Amino acid sequence: MILNEVTKTILERRSIRAYKPEQISEEELETVLECGVNAPSGANRQQWFVSVMQDKAFLEEISEKLYAWRIANAASEEEIARINSRPRSAHFGAPTVLWCAYPAADGPANLGFLAENMVLTAASIGLGTCFLGGIMAYLKGTEEGKELVSRMKLPEGYELAYGLTLGYPAESPEAKPREKKWIRI
Ligand SMILES: Cc1cc2nc3c(=O)[nH]c(=O)nc-3n(C[C@H](O)[C@H](O)[C@H](O)COP(=O)(O)O)c2cc1C
Repeated sequence: MILNEVTKTILERRSIRAYKPEQISEEELETVLECGVNAPSGANRQQWFVSVMQDKAFLEEISEKLYAWRIANAASEEEIARINSRPRSAHFGAPTVLWCAYPAADGPANLGFLAENMVLTAASIGLGTCFLGGIMAYLKGTEEGKELVSRMKLPEGYELAYGLTLGYPAESPEAKPREKKWIRI
């Protein structure tokens, strides 16, 4: 296959679940966001919204409440032990989380392109990312979670889709296997 800077970034990007505590620079954040909004969108309607969160206290509040909820709703002692065996951070200690939303009336199709542009841009400048999808059951399915979302400053009528962690990686995981059976030529 053809290898260039773009294809190498795509192949080398991995989800990062451990971060250094230092905040990323404004230039790095701006680069990720600018490349994000340069994604394609239907009729250039740009149906997406990103709420940048760098408020450490707010991120820690989300983690504390999420883990209290997970433990209160755990199905077994084993599950509680599993939860307690890992660091209690909803965002893997990343100093920045990009909360990604879409207009509920239009759907999330465009948002995926924005998010992938941001993920690949981040990887290309040495930043780590990881989508936070699992947390949505709590953020959207509980009153406490909805209260947290109400403080994310999303515009009226926008639906939260996922969070995206952003920071300097503190791990370099191996690639997980990929299958090509989902492609037919
Ligand atoms: C929409 C979406 C939601 C995800 N949610 C989570 C999540 O809640 N927690 C997590 O650790 N990883 C999450 N991931 C990351 C995937 O687990 C990861 O992309 C996949 O295992 C492939 O690994 P790689 O990204 O390192 O190539 C999510 C990825 C996507 C695209």
